Amino acid sequence: MKISSLLFGLLACTFAATAAAEPVVIKFSHVVAQDTPKGKAADFFAKRAGELTKGKVKVEVYPNSTLYKDKEEMEALQLGAVQMLAPSLAKFGPLGVREFEVFDLPYIFDGYADLHKITTGPVGASLLAKLEPKGVKGLAFWDNGFKSFSANSPINMPADLKGKKMRIQSSKVLEEEMRAMGAIPQVMAFSEVYQALQTGVVDGTENPISNLQTQKMHEVQKHLSLTEHGYLGYAVITNKKFWEGLPADVRGQLEQAMKESTEYANKIAKEENERSLDIVKKSGKTEIHTPTPEEKLAFKRALVPVHKKMESRIGADLIQSIYKETNFDPSKL
Ligand code: LMR
Repeated sequence: MKISSLLFGLLACTFAATAAAEPVVIKFSHVVAQDTPKGKAADFFAKRAGELTKGKVKVEVYPNSTLYKDKEEMEALQLGAVQMLAPSLAKFGPLGVREFEVFDLPYIFDGYADLHKITTGPVGASLLAKLEPKGVKGLAFWDNGFKSFSANSPINMPADLKGKKMRIQSSKVLEEEMRAMGAIPQVMAFSEVYQALQTGVVDGTENPISNLQTQKMHEVQKHLSLTEHGYLGYAVITNKKFWEGLPADVRGQLEQAMKESTEYANKIAKEENERSLDIVKKSGKTEIHTPTPEEKLAFKRALVPVHKKMESRIGADLIQSIYKETNFDPSKL
């Protein structure tokens, strides 16, 4: 054999070996800080995916809107520019899956246990299945927590938010929630909220405490009222074509990594929010109000009628199926 063909053969082998060792890269983009339930769970997934696939998959996590903001990230996923996201359930309306807004209905879940009846049961599975015609595969639900209102003036009763400009996520249910109190809803990307609060473009907002604290929003909001009036959590999603194109063994390992990350996310979410509340308390930058039972009832009475109003958008059957699972009866308020 000629030296040149031997060299060529060697080069070809080296190239093939390098090509085979090249990992599949999953870009996982999200909009919150690393030090939040979602940020920590995404990092956990990246670690476990690398371990379980023995390096065949490399997950690169881009936190804090460094790669894409809210609206752009959905488009990027559908185009295949990013492979994984975990948008809040309130952000699926623009994709055309309005049913996800059921999670935004005020006071529909009385705590994590109620919520898990839905996210781990058939209703949750059927919601994730609705993403498939959009070229999106739903992999899991990850918890964050229950939202509270903040503003620069005290919020003891629903009427205290009358006339206030309140930042919301892109959900029609949240728009209606704000209107039910006479507030003026303003849809805005998460990455822009701190500045909008600081400069007075909006007067207030709603957040689980982990998001409020890690974005330092409490430093530009004089009042926080622990209304816990609605849930904020995530659907972890991937590009369907990308996912189905993975070798079956690798996909199985990633499914296992996702299962472990989901357990992890849902285990830490409550503690993370409590830790953040502690930080906010210690900062002394915002006055924290815990609504009395009467005040809480006033918020419920003002906000639960939003369920009926949004029936035609979300589906009366879907709302009823949640009431049934969680024994919620709006007429008993
Ligand atoms: C928000 O926009 O307020 C949240 O959806 C951010 C997040 O991802 O938790």
